[in-house]
Amino acid sequence: MRKILIVFGTRPEAIKLAPLVQKLKAESLKLKATICVTAQHREMLDQVLNLFEITPNYDLNIMTNNQDLFDVTIRSLQRLKKVLEKERPDLVIVQGDTTTSFVASLASYYMQIPVAHVEAGLRTYNKYNPFPEEKNRHLTGVLADYHFAPTEWAKNNLLKENIPEEKIWVTGNTVIDALLTVVRSQKSVARQKGLNKYFREKWNLTLPTDSGTNTNNSKLILVTGHRRESFGGGFKNICLALREIAQNNPNVTIVYPVHLNPNVQKPVYEILGPTQTNRKDQIKKNQKNLFLIDPLDYEPFVYLMSKSYLILTDSGGIQEEAPALGKPVLVMRDTTERPEGVEAGTVRLVGTNKDRIIEETQRLLENPKSYEEMSKAMNPYGDGKATQRIVDILLRELWA
Ligand code: UD1
Ligand code: UDP
Repeated sequence: MRKILIVFGTRPEAIKLAPLVQKLKAESLKLKATICVTAQHREMLDQVLNLFEITPNYDLNIMTNNQDLFDVTIRSLQRLKKVLEKERPDLVIVQGDTTTSFVASLASYYMQIPVAHVEAGLRTYNKYNPFPEEKNRHLTGVLADYHFAPTEWAKNNLLKENIPEEKIWVTGNTVIDALLTVVRSQKSVARQKGLNKYFREKWNLTLPTDSGTNTNNSKLILVTGHRRESFGGGFKNICLALREIAQNNPNVTIVYPVHLNPNVQKPVYEILGPTQTNRKDQIKKNQKNLFLIDPLDYEPFVYLMSKSYLILTDSGGIQEEAPALGKPVLVMRDTTERPEGVEAGTVRLVGTNKDRIIEETQRLLENPKSYEEMSKAMNPYGDGKATQRIVDILLRELWA
């Protein structure tokens, strides 16, 4: 029986690979799927493992506080060696652009084990933006044998790099599979009541009833940010912009689940804090409409996206999910490896300049025409069947 080892380490990889893990496990008569997490993330990974009921066979537990790229690379490379030696899989599957994805591909190459790369071919062609993700993804592609590209554009990037066409398949992005599964599970009134209660009781937050606007006309802005190239000045600008938007728009509620990276936590809590548990200080600082909360489990996070009026983010995954939900996204980055959302008109790059972030947000808050233009639901990243396509390709084309 063929043996597949699936390796991942961070929250977004886990979300995007969870549907594939589930489907591969269901093919237990045809193949043996083994899961190895590097645990480059800990809490944020475990949240996803719990939701999708995935129990890894190997947990390399590499995360340390405030780790740098060398820490992640060395620790995962060393620990993966032992797993590969023991398992000797026929194929290793990796996803995306993290250091875990790159290192798992490198380790597999050293052992001469074929690699399949999910979400292959995205590029900005700027090696420091996003950093180190642009080169992580490129290098993973150089080492991989099979490339699952989410879109035609991504496929074309790979063709330009002389990857043979017969090794590339356009599948859609598996994030849409994960997203639609969660969205479907939130259709019932009972489930929505439960999620509203969760936000009310845990975070002291009353969510809008529909379209991001609640009965007292409050609009919800959802914020996330974590990119290394924005550490320092970029994050300071983002925080100052958020503070001004909150102060200028008392009818707006800003919710920011803050990434656990200390390089994010520090400026965000220093500039916008104190923490959610200390609402009195927040109110004193005239920021009672600004909520800093912990990273959310994927289910409540998807619900929050669906309740948002607009999303400010530098996240890759959210750029893919928000268009499917019809939510305008202002991307606080200078480049994107996901131009399809920009072309579709639902995503706009605004960089990390304070005034630009404020101006573009204000425009969407005040100008219904601009808002309407950006809030059409569309899905450039897939139809929710990417995972099935990948499984079919593995079973029918690669191992027929
Ligand atoms: C990583 C990925 C990035 C991806 C992002 C998704 C790399 C180099 N970076 O960046 O591509 O977009 O994940 O979120 O692969 N931490 C915790 N608990 C957690 C997660 C992180 O405490 O569950 C803290 C730790 O102090 C850790 C730090 O965050 O050292 C940085 O984590 P790391 O994975 O190196 O970087 P991210 O910014 O999360
Ligand atoms: N996400 C989540 N909880 C949060 C913030 C984000 O579950 O508090 C989800 C989000 O819906 C998306 C993924 O995490 O699927 C994106 O992760 P992140 O932004 O950390 O990484 P990126 O996609 O930029 O690599």
